[in-house]
Amino acid sequence: MAERIQKLISQAGLASRRQAERWIEEGKVLLNGRKAGLGDRADLTVDKVEVAGRALQAAEKKITVLLNKPRGYISTLKDPGERRLVTELVADIPARLFPIGRLDYNTEGLLLLSNDGDLALRLTHPRHHVKKTYLVKGRGRLTSDMIGQLEQGVMIDQYKTAPAQVAKVRNSATTCWFELTISEGKNRQVRRMCDAIGISVVRLKRIGLGGLDLGGLETGRYRLLSAAEVARLKKIN
Ligand code: URA
Repeated sequence: MAERIQKLISQAGLASRRQAERWIEEGKVLLNGRKAGLGDRADLTVDKVEVAGRALQAAEKKITVLLNKPRGYISTLKDPGERRLVTELVADIPARLFPIGRLDYNTEGLLLLSNDGDLALRLTHPRHHVKKTYLVKGRGRLTSDMIGQLEQGVMIDQYKTAPAQVAKVRNSATTCWFELTISEGKNRQVRRMCDAIGISVVRLKRIGLGGLDLGGLETGRYRLLSAAEVARLKKIN
């Protein structure tokens, strides 16, 4: 959409609108190679606006998607080992999205990808204690003593984890399933917490994050978050 040039200059953070108007009057602003006038409008996706020789960039639209990550994908932007990247699953979106936080190569489930650095910071900063819920399938039976340990915090390396919540426990003779909700994001935290109580994780899926869940989203598919969902995530504190 075409906007007044002074507005585009101020949106780019170069100057206030008043200052931008003065630059236009002084002939310091070019629109498609010619001196711009005060009433001129431009669309940065098609027009070139230069201020003192420097071209303005169109602000990238903020996009956030919720992906149901399959196992066997890595949640970094590159992999020296040439494993598949989660970004390949959102490659049809015309924006440079990056994963917010990480899921291990063999963890599946809810992963947000975005080009919104502010959102990423809010969701990953330890100060905000964003709740993440995992569905765990473990080897061994989950006893009430083990649940108590998870709820009180367990030692992983030199670190005591914050109290976690355990729900929907099911045990068979050799296997357990349960939901674990944590508000921290240490590397491989759920696997290490389970190791600490003697349960080895055989399957791990993130099913919730900051009030979002997977809904009916199939593995490998994504959906766009609405502006209201993003606004709500940004309010978590
Ligand atoms: N905890 C883990 O151990 N792995 C993940 O991928 C996420 C949380």
